[in-house]
Amino acid sequence: MSGLFITLEGGDGAGKSTQAELLGAWLEARGHEVVRTREPGGTRLGIEVRRLLLHGGDEIGEVDPRAETLLYAADRAQHIAKVVRPALERGAIVVADRYIDSSLAYQGAGRVLDVADVRRISEWAVGGLWPQVTVLLDLDPVTAIARRRGRGEVDDRLEAEAVEFHEAVREGFRDLARVAPDRYLVLDAAQPADELHTAVINRVAPLLTAL
Ligand code: TYD
Repeated sequence: MSGLFITLEGGDGAGKSTQAELLGAWLEARGHEVVRTREPGGTRLGIEVRRLLLHGGDEIGEVDPRAETLLYAADRAQHIAKVVRPALERGAIVVADRYIDSSLAYQGAGRVLDVADVRRISEWAVGGLWPQVTVLLDLDPVTAIARRRGRGEVDDRLEAEAVEFHEAVREGFRDLARVAPDRYLVLDAAQPADELHTAVINRVAPLLTAL
């Protein structure tokens, strides 16, 4: 595959969307085809799965962690097959808001499922595709919650989890980064957006010469 696959990870409210937007614009200004996408919800099927997962409410009742894991994996399978692989095959740069690491952190560390099981399910779903670069926007959950409140956002099902859950998710991401330092760029998301953007492009720029 000839393109470049970049993912952004981190807790809710860490600023992933802002960085994805800035990176996408920077890459496009350099003449690259950029596909900006996200999980869950990067396909038509995924939009339905996302609605159930995040806003299902009483309609779906309490969601079992294994069912939750499989729904995220189903969203991911469709997303990789229909959006990400085709884009990479034509040489585009895919900038994705969340990917497998989110399942490892939220369903593995957060819901306390076996991380190796969650990894196996997601890897099967996507045929083993991993990104070349993963940017982790690391932020303490209390600050992240305050940011979301400041923006007047209403919590979805995952965001409404207790702060301990979000702390476990954060640790989950940090552990993943520790064991995959070549793929991960870990940034302190309390920094201003333009400084984060500079760090992201410093990491990505050397990879563009190979495209
Ligand atoms: P996101 O789209 O980042 O939420 P928002 O649009 O509100 O910023 O992610 C949706 C939620 O789904 C988020 O709380 C993280 C969670 N999630 C998982 O639990 N597992 C996963 O595999 C993925 C991709 C997301």
